Amino acid sequence: MNSDNPIIVSITGASGVILGYKIIDELIEKNEKVLFVCSSAGRMVWKDEKLPSFGETIEKWDSSGRFKMYSNGDFYSPIASGGFKSKAMIIIPASMNTISSISNGITDNLIKRAADVMIKEKRELVLVPRETPLNALHLKNMTKLAQLGVKIFPPNPPYYLFPKNIDDINDFIVQKLMVAIGVQDKLPSNYIYNEKE
Ligand SMILES: Cc1cc2nc3c(=O)[nH]c(=O)nc-3n(C[C@H](O)[C@H](O)[C@H](O)COP(=O)(O)O)c2cc1C
Repeated sequence: MNSDNPIIVSITGASGVILGYKIIDELIEKNEKVLFVCSSAGRMVWKDEKLPSFGETIEKWDSSGRFKMYSNGDFYSPIASGGFKSKAMIIIPASMNTISSISNGITDNLIKRAADVMIKEKRELVLVPRETPLNALHLKNMTKLAQLGVKIFPPNPPYYLFPKNIDDINDFIVQKLMVAIGVQDKLPSNYIYNEKE
C-alpha cells in the first residue's frame, strides 16, 4: 500500500488534537511521508490539551526523514498546487471554521487551499469534525462536502468494544482512519465486531 506520494495531515483548532498527533506518529511508523500544516488555533488547542511540546514533537517527527512542516500562510508550498501529487489529505481535528470555509470555496490559508486542491483533483480528503451538537449550518457544510466525495469521519468511540480508557478510543479511531485513507486494507481483527475474541 505504500506508494511514495505523501499524505497531508493538518491540525486545526478543535478539541482532540491528540488524534492528529497520534495519526502522524502512526504514519511515520508505517514509513509513510507526512506533510504537515497546523493552524494557529490548532497550536492554541495543542497547548491547552497538554500534549508534548510542539517544538520537541516537530523535532522528533523531523528526525524520521519522512516529515516536513509548512506554515499555514505558505502558498508557495507544493501542496497548494494540483500539479503536486499526494496520496490523501486528512484534517484532524477539523474545526467548524475550516469545514465551513472549505465547503464555501474559501482558500485563505494553506490548509483550506490544499483541501480545495484535493477536491478539484478528486483525491482522497478526510475531515474529522469535532463539535456537538451540530447546528444546521455545520450539517449543510458537511453535506455539501460529502456530496463532493469528501469523507466525513466523526471520531466516534467504539462502544461495542467496551473501551477502558481514552487511549483505547484514540487507538481505534487512528486504525479506522488508516483504512479510510487507504494506508491499511482492513482493521486489526480485535477491532472488528464479528471477529473480536
Ligand atoms: C481551547 C479551544 C478549543 C476549541 N474547540 C473547538 C472545537 O472542538 N470545535 C470547533 O469547531 N472549534 C473549536 N474552537 C474554536 C476554533 O479554534 C476557532 O473557531 C478558530 O477560528 C478555528 O480556526 P482554524 O479553523 O483556522 O483552526 C476551539 C478553540 C479553542 C481555543
